[in-house]
Amino acid sequence: MRTLNVHSKTHNYDIDIKNSIFKDAFLRIKEKFPESKFVFVIDQNVFQCYDHQIQDILYDEDIIVLDMTEKTKNMKTVEFVYSRLHKLAISRQDVLVAIGGGITTDLVGFVAATYLRGIRHINIPTTLLSMVDATIGGKVGVNYKGMKNQIGSFHAPVYVMIDPNFLKTLDKVDLRSGVSEMVKVFYLKRPDLINKLLKDEPYEHIDEYIFESLSIKKYYVEEDEFESNLRMYLNFGHTYGHAIESFYRFKKYSHGEAVWLGMGIILKDSNFYDSYLKLTEKYKLPNHIPNIKVEYLVKAMKHDKKNINGNIHIVDFNNQNQPYLHELDLESIGEKYLNAK
Ligand SMILES: NC(=O)c1ccc[n+]([C@@H]2O[C@H](COP(=O)([O-])OP(=O)(O)OC[C@H]3O[C@@H](n4cnc5c(N)ncnc54)[C@H](O)[C@@H]3O)[C@@H](O)[C@H]2O)c1
Repeated sequence: MRTLNVHSKTHNYDIDIKNSIFKDAFLRIKEKFPESKFVFVIDQNVFQCYDHQIQDILYDEDIIVLDMTEKTKNMKTVEFVYSRLHKLAISRQDVLVAIGGGITTDLVGFVAATYLRGIRHINIPTTLLSMVDATIGGKVGVNYKGMKNQIGSFHAPVYVMIDPNFLKTLDKVDLRSGVSEMVKVFYLKRPDLINKLLKDEPYEHIDEYIFESLSIKKYYVEEDEFESNLRMYLNFGHTYGHAIESFYRFKKYSHGEAVWLGMGIILKDSNFYDSYLKLTEKYKLPNHIPNIKVEYLVKAMKHDKKNINGNIHIVDFNNQNQPYLHELDLESIGEKYLNAK
């Protein structure tokens, strides 16, 4: 088993990564938090895929199964969970456990951040994207009026359990989405792993790559937990990515695919573009910059949390392959988009 210990301003937490660890999930959690009652909030698709296993492991526990999509990642679902917690008389002593992808861990984390002014939560991520990215760092939230993660908070989990075996049932599109966020941090800090990734068979040594991705993200979130400077590097590709996915109302591209396109727009002028194109082909990621009117992109970016007085900080790369934060006005952002097409 590989374990990472993450330091947060409020508490430290472990991330355990091991194949088949989920079969001991309840025992491990109970051992860590012996005084608590648990409520498991599970993505409906995960519940369907692992129905028997989940019933065996959590036979006597309180379970809430939810339809989790970008459309239901909203305050209505949050309120529904609040009402169930109220009925179950959940106290601040108790712990919520999210089992699902990034939508589930974000939403459950937000419920945990706000219910009774904050209760504890555990993440059991089941998609590659949530394993390498969403589960660590404490950013939690929901969508609002079609805009991604407009309502949210920082609320770190108290424990994370990663069982890469969950990936066996994951759709190819969602696997690719995870690859995108994984590669994002490799470009930022470990380009050597890009070369290894290009040599390996797709998804070979995935537990190792999950560990490496989390180690990189751990560095950023420990240095700058509340995203005032360094953590902004993790937004590489996201300014364009968010605008693209919201333009298509989250239907055409998954989050990771949209971010992949966003990264391509940035990397086009860098030394990394060649490896980016090779990875695009190897992992069947999208490479066609969509025909979106710049006015729309700019409009979407006006609501971007990274927008400060009409300027946006984007992550770019210099000739020495080092990332740097670049403050651009919306017009220049639009020009960069057009140039990449
Ligand atoms: N908090 C953060 O730091 C952070 C970082 C990156 C992304 N995010 C958020 O994460 C979300 C995207 O996460 P995601 O890509 O995991 O999406 P997701 O949660 O929608 O999961 C993708 C799909 O896979 C299904 N699924 C999940 N696990 C499965 C399994 N093991 N087998 C079969 N199907 C399974 C889900 O039902 C869903 O249909 C976005 O809302 C994004 O904003 C948050």
